Amino acid sequence: MPDPIAVNSMFGRIAHRYDLANRVLSGGIDTYWRSRLVDAVEYWRPRNVLDLATGSGDVAFALARKLHPSVRIFGMDFCEPMLERAETRKARRPALYSGVEFIFGDALEIPVAEATFDAVTIAFGLRNLASRPRCLAEIRRVLRPDGHLFVLEFSQPWRLVRPFYSFYLGRVVPRLAGILTGDRRAYEYLGATIDQFPEREALSAEIGEAGYGDVRESAMTMGIVALHSALRQPTVN
Ligand SMILES: C[S@@+](CC[C@H](N)C(=O)[O-])C[C@H]1O[C@@H](n2cnc3c(N)ncnc32)[C@H](O)[C@@H]1O
Repeated sequence: MPDPIAVNSMFGRIAHRYDLANRVLSGGIDTYWRSRLVDAVEYWRPRNVLDLATGSGDVAFALARKLHPSVRIFGMDFCEPMLERAETRKARRPALYSGVEFIFGDALEIPVAEATFDAVTIAFGLRNLASRPRCLAEIRRVLRPDGHLFVLEFSQPWRLVRPFYSFYLGRVVPRLAGILTGDRRAYEYLGATIDQFPEREALSAEIGEAGYGDVRESAMTMGIVALHSALRQPTVN
């Protein structure tokens, strides 16, 4: 499992070029993946949303553009340079993003009272955590009964495309990202964490074991990315 201190310092080092690297390395398709997540959230008409591991705020901003302006959106991360980048982006469009607030916090110990949010999102974050069960339990705690969890994450692609994808991840991405961000090692780490991440069905099972109901999964872009959603069921006494 990733070491949180190393993860924090790595994202701190690449924060200034994180968005550019995402767009270039994914050929821009990462914005489509996040838009699918946002559409899924919108369906449930939440009054407030917590975006965990928000990074530079891509999901939080996409939610603000799509949801009703009265919806409160909180972006949380434990990496200060990432949050600074998110604040800079927010300051460029203060009216549009007035409902978005960025907060420092650890996804393994969310500094929020229980049953606070209608929805919690985590995009490309779960893979970087030292303990997925701990994070899923924390999310469950801060969700209201009948609230929804949404996980957007890299997954294991279709078998036919795996050799090409492995080559791209292992050989092309570190070199290209090294040029873009000056930190080739960070993107070697990316490939390793994607390789070790569970298949869609296994992640659904983990979410179910963490006490959620109605767990659903959908694959995108030949299975490279998956969107999982789940319901925080009311506790039965
Ligand atoms: C790959 S980025 C994803 C950012 C954003 N969600 C996106 O869609 O681009 C992963 C983020 O997770 C954050 N992160 C990793 N572990 C964390 C933790 N324990 N608590 C809070 N944030 C964490 C990192 O600081 C980083 O900003």
